[in-house]
Amino acid sequence: MKTYLVTGGAGFIGSNFIHYMFGKYGKDIRIINVDALTYAGNLENLEGLDKEYDYIFIKADIRDKKRISKIFEENDIDFVVNFAAESHVDRSIENPEIFVETNVLGTLIMLNSAKAAWENEDGSFKEGKRFLHVSTDEVYGSLSDPEDYFYEDTPYDPHSPYSASKASSDFLVKAYVDTYHFPGVITNCSNNYGPFQFPEKLIPLIINNALHGKNLPVYGDGKNVRDWLYVDDHCKGIDMVLSNGRIGEKYNIGGHNEKQNIEIIHIILDTLREILPDDDPRKKNVSDDLITFVTDRKGHDRRYAIAPDKIRKELSWEPETAFKDGIKKTVKWYLSHEEWMAHVTSGDYQSYYEKMYEGR
Ligand code: NAD
Ligand code: DAU
Repeated sequence: MKTYLVTGGAGFIGSNFIHYMFGKYGKDIRIINVDALTYAGNLENLEGLDKEYDYIFIKADIRDKKRISKIFEENDIDFVVNFAAESHVDRSIENPEIFVETNVLGTLIMLNSAKAAWENEDGSFKEGKRFLHVSTDEVYGSLSDPEDYFYEDTPYDPHSPYSASKASSDFLVKAYVDTYHFPGVITNCSNNYGPFQFPEKLIPLIINNALHGKNLPVYGDGKNVRDWLYVDDHCKGIDMVLSNGRIGEKYNIGGHNEKQNIEIIHIILDTLREILPDDDPRKKNVSDDLITFVTDRKGHDRRYAIAPDKIRKELSWEPETAFKDGIKKTVKWYLSHEEWMAHVTSGDYQSYYEKMYEGR
């Protein structure tokens, strides 16, 4: 039985990944979820899993050397999947420091702890161990030529403090591979959407605001392009890279689904109007009039677009969820999880929202 150490498993992609893996492998795997439970971590996402599967949650910070080393000493970890990060670009513009601490220093501590646990006396590594670092397409910067795509060898050109911190952590993983022959691998994925995404991010924010008749803030002209992938397709790619990806390589993950932000907002509004029954009181709130163009994000990257050729060719990865189906599933999930949304939008999130969008 393989043991996975998943960091940041109480966040959006991490919790979807844990569900995906238990859905696929059931009782044949063990997952240890290490999460500090920042504002973005929510154990409600994983309720009941410990009763059904070999699942353990440990509340710990990846910056805490002692705790992380102890977890490796007490468990025979086969795979590390490093999701834990500060993930929101707008927050990184306001407060870059925590992004460097968690994303760079935290990743370094994860690498050192895995290295100490997995290294043989002669400097080689135990068989079958893998450290998968989950990264982003934002490290490549912004595309200006409409025909261009991000490939694995596209030079890194991060612009936001968030993407600079992710680029730094990618380089640390690469440095460990190059220097120690550490069994590391990196995935760079495009924008994910789906259940459990914190409503500071575009898609859940727009769904939530539209349902409550609140303004739908569009940064700049709304024509920035993001390449959207249903979260399960990302999870599938991570699983494939863990099992069959080549050590020391990086793999781009994306489904060629580029959309302008304004297009996304119209699709969400149309989907809400289609799905909500006429007698649902939330339906009357849903209106195009809520769309509000606001001051642009500082340093806003214009376009992201992933070329997933390598993962397709080497591992036969293909996305399974078309955007029209994925967005419907996602909207339906948020409609039926009002309580989840109420929990994550109370308290700290209220003050974040007011501060972030004040005067914009
Ligand atoms: P998220 O913000 O929803 O979740 C992050 C999780 O990490 C939370 O559970 C949080 O509690 C935890 N965490 C934060 N700091 C920690 C620390 N110091 N120690 C332990 N746990 C900590 O993020 P997400 O959107 O699920 O992204 C997960 C990973 O995937 C990130 O590394 C991100 O860079 C990457 N990624 C995200 C996307 C996307 O579209 N969301 C796309 C590509 C890559
Ligand atoms: O590309 C992968 C990245 O996608 C991940 O690495 C990040 O962790 C993840 O947060 C996401 O980053 P983005 O900045 O692209 O996502 P966000 O949802 O914040 O914004 C998507 C687009 O929508 C972006 O062009 C900014 C715009 N936007 C966002 C918000 C929150 C708005 O116009 N209005 C908003 O209120």
